Amino acid sequence: MPLVTSKKLLLDAQEGCYAVGAFNVENMEMVQAVVAAAEELRAPVILQTTPSTLKYADVDFFYANVKTAAEKAAVPVVMHLDHGSSFDLAMQAFRAGYTSIMIDGSPKPFSENVQVTRAVASACHPAGIPVEAELGKVGGKEDDLIGGEGNPYTDPREAQAFVEATGVDFLAVAIGTAHGVYKGVPRLDLDRLREIRAIVSIPLVLHGTSGVPDDTVRACIARGICKVNYATDLRIAFTKGVSAYLKEHPDAFDPKKYNAQGREEVKQYAMEKIKVCGSDGKA
Ligand code: 13P
Repeated sequence: MPLVTSKKLLLDAQEGCYAVGAFNVENMEMVQAVVAAAEELRAPVILQTTPSTLKYADVDFFYANVKTAAEKAAVPVVMHLDHGSSFDLAMQAFRAGYTSIMIDGSPKPFSENVQVTRAVASACHPAGIPVEAELGKVGGKEDDLIGGEGNPYTDPREAQAFVEATGVDFLAVAIGTAHGVYKGVPRLDLDRLREIRAIVSIPLVLHGTSGVPDDTVRACIARGICKVNYATDLRIAFTKGVSAYLKEHPDAFDPKKYNAQGREEVKQYAMEKIKVCGSDGKA
């Protein structure tokens, strides 16, 4: 089916107390793998690209890949810009046809974050494209284009004021997760999440989920998380598949052969996490 926007998917998830898995893709094989996983489990799914992925190959390249995979699929697929780092990049993705946009003004002071988020929401909403924003600081580096210090965890009252001031559709919250590989087991502030949920009614988003124990992810979903982002572990899965193939076939030279094994690893990983999100059978 044609690409869909994330709005209805996340509102349905919110009502049904599950989450939609959002998977970062880096190449055609990862796109195929994630969509195949969603199809096998009859799950709605979000595929997303960060600014560094778009530096490697631009919005048109990724949009064409995901659009093609979506049209061949029988489940709803969203093409989302992850951590849009500027108004200009958000508009590039919007014009390319992305059906969901994140503008990440979280490294900026509150008022500037409000300003850029409101500007992106005003540009996207007339075309029916929903917008995700972030308040507070998810640890680690989302991407090699994002930096800044910022305040650490999301303050519930600030979150409420931010949502009212921006008209944003979904909010990524900082409750102790970090992007990349964790050194230990992350401890999340679930009480804070509950407090945010109590006064912010829009769907909430969990970033930095690779390495977060599945039970903790489920506890977050029970407290209002409707979109769960996985990136690092997909990259690791793809690399694991390719490495295993090359180890077993040291003379291999055909990318179709080793990429296929990377693709299979990503598919298995995505299926596992779709089940953790509880979105299997929801398409
Ligand atoms: P991880 O790389 O920790 O899975 O984070 C994913 C993410 O939040 C992408 O925005």
